[in-house]
Amino acid sequence: MSTLVVVGTQWGDEGKGKIVDLLTEYADVIVRFQGGNNAGHTLLVDGKKFICHLIPSGILHGNKVCLIGNGVVFDPSVFIEEIKELSSKGMPVSPDRLRLSSNAHLIMPYHKALDHARENAKAEGKRLGTTGRGIGPCYEDKIVRNGIKVGDLLDPVLFREKLADNVKEKNFILTKMLNAEPVDTEDIYREFQEHARRLAPFIDNVSILIDDARRKGKALLFEGAQGTQLDIDHGTYPYVTSSNTVAGAACCGAGIGPSKIDKVVGICKAYTTRVGAGPFPTELEDVVGDHLQEKGAEFGATTGRRRRCGWLDGVVLRDAVRINGLDGLAITKLDVLSGINPLNICTEYEVSGTRHLHMPGNIREVESVCPIYKTLPGWQEDLSQMKSMEDLPKEARDYLKAMEDIAGIPIMLISVGPGREQTIFLKNPFD
Ligand code: IMP
Repeated sequence: MSTLVVVGTQWGDEGKGKIVDLLTEYADVIVRFQGGNNAGHTLLVDGKKFICHLIPSGILHGNKVCLIGNGVVFDPSVFIEEIKELSSKGMPVSPDRLRLSSNAHLIMPYHKALDHARENAKAEGKRLGTTGRGIGPCYEDKIVRNGIKVGDLLDPVLFREKLADNVKEKNFILTKMLNAEPVDTEDIYREFQEHARRLAPFIDNVSILIDDARRKGKALLFEGAQGTQLDIDHGTYPYVTSSNTVAGAACCGAGIGPSKIDKVVGICKAYTTRVGAGPFPTELEDVVGDHLQEKGAEFGATTGRRRRCGWLDGVVLRDAVRINGLDGLAITKLDVLSGINPLNICTEYEVSGTRHLHMPGNIREVESVCPIYKTLPGWQEDLSQMKSMEDLPKEARDYLKAMEDIAGIPIMLISVGPGREQTIFLKNPFD
């Protein structure tokens, strides 16, 4: 087994960072294939906290190669800052270990300005609650074929031409339609020429690097960002991000064919969280929600926003298994459920008297579903030091069994705390 895709099964923030970090041990190459610095993977290594927004978290392992694929939207200033921060924490990063696709699209200052201005222009209650990182406007330019690619940085004439065309159009929208400040071509040009100088050694053809590594028998780990319900096609549109977050996106976003993917693992938090606006059927706006929020330290790694919390949603899990073709699950934050009794798991939705096993396609329907719960006894024990399935209280094992029954696939890993060692390994997905 040499190629593994890891994706989030919910609305992001499932704890992918920690699981990817653990699995990196068994991989030679780690690849990001979609999203941008809207993601934030928080990792605890030897008691030191790291948050990787853009660079794959595999960079924390000294001997691994990390790749940023063409499907990523790339903010050069964030990349350069992350390299600086890693170096200041004793982890210097060189192009030997980190490469960037020349086909990835650049997040430009006007993308960020548009992201903010569009959200501000929307009426209260209509906002998407984006991370404000320019993600949507950048993907938008990619699709309408106005985007500027990382590789364009190496051709100053082409870069300036594309930039000038874009600034003309974006300034019209910013000033005439959104009542926002314009951006300046020359300022951006100067800033990006400096970025070009620093990025040049990292720019490469990532698809070829992946193919070479695969042919040499190396193990590859494709690291998804966000989660299945934030997918532009399969999520709760329009309350989604602007990329495909599902496993299939690894192929388009990195340049590898589907027949070369061996396994897909889904990360599922033992309960549900969501940041930003949009329907959340199992949301808890009570003391249990507060318990999950506080004990789970549920604050967004990118924006610091309080995450909304709720019961585990089996409809979301079931859909994630199908859409991603999951082979197994990694369950995170099981320890956070200690002390809640009883526990609920949503198994179906009801809409106007009809039961649904899957997420309805219509957003108005999603907003009106009534979750049907299975109630299970909780447990009081602190799970954070438990090392095996046998150590877990019976109630926790029953809860996990209920998750497996809904998903119809096995649990491979169980995380009971933020540290690498706080993990129960049932099956290595790379085996
Ligand atoms: P955008 O990706 O910044 O356009 O934001 C669109 C929606 O996706 C918002 O609700 C964000 O809160 C959400 N979102 C984007 N990235 C993440 C993530 O990494 N974790 C959780 N939610 C995210």
